[in-house]
Amino acid sequence: MNLRERDTDLRELMDDPDCDPIRLDATLRRFGIVNRLVSGWAGVYRTHLRPYLTAHRAAHPTPARAAGRPPVRVLDIGCGGGDVIERLAQLARRDGFDVEWLGIDPDPRAHAAASARAWRDITFRCADSATLRAEGDAFDIVLSNHVLHHLDTAQLQGFADDSLALSRGPVLHGDIRRGHRAYVLYAAGITPLAPGTFLRTDGLRSIRRSYRAEELAQELGRPWRVETPAPFRLLAVAAGRA
Ligand SMILES: C[S@@+](CC[C@H](N)C(=O)[O-])C[C@H]1O[C@@H](n2cnc3c(N)ncnc32)[C@H](O)[C@@H]1O
Repeated sequence: MNLRERDTDLRELMDDPDCDPIRLDATLRRFGIVNRLVSGWAGVYRTHLRPYLTAHRAAHPTPARAAGRPPVRVLDIGCGGGDVIERLAQLARRDGFDVEWLGIDPDPRAHAAASARAWRDITFRCADSATLRAEGDAFDIVLSNHVLHHLDTAQLQGFADDSLALSRGPVLHGDIRRGHRAYVLYAAGITPLAPGTFLRTDGLRSIRRSYRAEELAQELGRPWRVETPAPFRLLAVAAGRA
């Protein structure tokens, strides 16, 4: 397997609008386990979200609703089945933060799967980032998981720019870091979770489409910096300009 360069010709099965809906639904639901094992968002919560939420709470000691202010708002762009936002909401609730979470995805099949996770503080909407931007909406934190490697160069620039325009605080895009060890370990580790889903084919294609840190930094340009927060992971970070 040649992983020296990104294989951008590969298309993931779940990106086919005519793919098997039952397998797609099973894939979106099982992302919950896969993301928990490999995506490292609990670590990103500790290093990025919690410090921001703590500073925000210190600056606004009266609870938002009592003070007539809206609570902190966090947006997950391309939320898929909604498991990442659900996990982050659990962590924030445990720390006593008052946060409103919105997950958006323009794919109605993903939106349908995510809607089952709606909770009093978590809302899902079938929309893309450009739509929210055109509406003039703004959030305190904007994030995504496993979206960047799906996009071509023009889409990536538009997506990154939308995310900066939508956030008045940090923007955090998490993705896979391409590499041999990631490929071999995923190929072995996904075996028990793969039956009935696209997880094996699409996961391996994702790794082959994904970036190394210096490639993503070059593709995104300023003001982005690219961190490597965990094995096989990248995190593109910038300050929003909403
Ligand atoms: C591989 S899925 C990732 C799903 C989820 N974030 C996860 O980690 O399991 C990528 C998702 O990004 C969505 N997407 C792509 N471009 C988008 C945009 N501009 N705005 C919102 N969602 C987008 C796609 O519809 C797709 O569901």
